[in-house]
Amino acid sequence: MNLILLGPPGSGKGTQAKMLVEKYDIPQISTGDILRAAVKEGSPMGLKAKEYMDKGKLVPDDVVIGIIEERLKKDDCKKGFILDGFPRTLAQAEALKRLLAKKEIKLDAVISIDVDEEEVIRRLTGRRTCKNCGAMYHIIFSPPKKEGICDKCGGELYQRDDDKEETIRARLKIYKEQTAPLIEYYKMEGLLKEVQGTGEIKEIFNRIESILS
Ligand code: AP5
Repeated sequence: MNLILLGPPGSGKGTQAKMLVEKYDIPQISTGDILRAAVKEGSPMGLKAKEYMDKGKLVPDDVVIGIIEERLKKDDCKKGFILDGFPRTLAQAEALKRLLAKKEIKLDAVISIDVDEEEVIRRLTGRRTCKNCGAMYHIIFSPPKKEGICDKCGGELYQRDDDKEETIRARLKIYKEQTAPLIEYYKMEGLLKEVQGTGEIKEIFNRIESILS
């Protein structure tokens, strides 16, 4: 199964991707996670990316397209993949199309998760992520049993640098301008499946599953 998860920041792409990984045993490829790992490492690419990420702007297309090209070469992608947060511009979508055509890989679906702006702000200002295993929590909607500690591995929970309200609003503006046009793009390609992203996490997963089966 080869999937793309599309949607505004905080729509639940990462949350749903992790559940799809468990169900279908295919890797989640999150450009956001890969970029944050590069920032943490302090690699030249990470340092360059950080300047954009801290302002809520998109990292240049050539950087992220290069990341995806390398990642899709790995063996674990042979059985399928879930692209989470890529593509985000028409140029990225076109590059992906060329890349997949060269590899003779077909996309099965593009799941577009829709959530309104105020819900996004509520979700992202309360998001906490485990430094160790990447598990995700929300201080109100899905809190850990012990504050600041991951239920799964005992790791420390942290708040992302770009989850401040001002940066979230900048990310939403960029989403509308540069990423939302992909909804029409994938509709034209006959791949788009729209999912209402509000409600319980499990309920949304059931909606996605019923589309995929
Ligand atoms: P990235 O990491 O991809 O961030 P994003 O797309 O803004 O998405 P988020 O991770 O914020 O949200 P999500 O939809 O995954 O929601 P989540 O499941 O976490 O990108 C970060 C930055 O990297 C970008 O701004 C850009 O600079 C750069 N970048 C990345 N990819 C790029 C690309 N392709 N091109 C250029 N630049 C790129 O959920 C959020 C919260 O809500 C959590 O706390 C969760 O527990 C909670 N939640 C989830 N579902 C529900 C629910 N149903 N009800 C209540 N709470 C819920």
